[in-house]
Amino acid sequence: MLSIETIHELNERFQSEPTEAILAWAWERFGPRAAIGTSFQGAGLVMMHLARRKGLDFPVFTLDTGLLFPETTALRRRLESFFGIQIESLEPDLSVEKQAEAYGPELWKRDPDLCCTVRKVVPLQSKLASIDCWITGLRRQQSDTRASIGIVEGYVSDPANGREIIKLNPMANWARDAVWDYLKQHQIPYNPLQDQGYRSIGCMPCTHRGGAGESERAGRWMGFQKTECGIHTFMTRKA
Ligand code: ADX
Ligand code: SF4
Repeated sequence: MLSIETIHELNERFQSEPTEAILAWAWERFGPRAAIGTSFQGAGLVMMHLARRKGLDFPVFTLDTGLLFPETTALRRRLESFFGIQIESLEPDLSVEKQAEAYGPELWKRDPDLCCTVRKVVPLQSKLASIDCWITGLRRQQSDTRASIGIVEGYVSDPANGREIIKLNPMANWARDAVWDYLKQHQIPYNPLQDQGYRSIGCMPCTHRGGAGESERAGRWMGFQKTECGIHTFMTRKA
């Protein structure tokens, strides 16, 4: 784990460095114990492309809740052949049917936090136990809750064992338009739902088309106060 001072220094330095340089630092520091987590939305795809072009072979994983759109699942296969990589799928212990037996049907309508915990947070926690650096596609522009993220952040990932992890957000400063310009320019496959008015795409029951002028993530968990699924909020931040 890096010291708090080092994390602050790196954040200052990375603020004016290109994304490739941030990724190259992570590869040099952590090698394949740094992994990209992606839901195949714009920023994750840009990062995967930048990394591949530089020969940085980060493992890539995705949380497959079993409730994704068919378009998202098909995109995953397209990306595997486009990039020539295998993408690891992290699945919850409970299938959707078993979850209905344990907690009642359509848990997402009654307790989306619990549903996200079972289907995303717990599988992610077990993945984080085997890596030292989690690379995300978070962007500051995405929402108020993300406006102050660091490019490098230090977290306690497992308080019981005192384990700590670096979370790297190399896309933090990217604007949505820059992401989409990049994807188009390099002809990177993307989710066709984006062209149908979906601006932030997660599980089918909790994703809706966003209205014009709304925040990018307005279509997620409509009708609930919820704005984050929990994968970005369950750990204690150190720096
Ligand atoms: S979410 O947490 O509310 O779903 P969003 O869809 O905006 O977030 O994605 C933000 C970042 O969280 C992504 O760039 C990715 O790093 C991570 N992430 C979100 N969903 C997944 C997923 N299903 N699998 C892996 N990483 C994910
Ligand atoms: Fe469940 Fe919705 Fe969270 Fe997906 S986004 S895990 S369906 S509550």
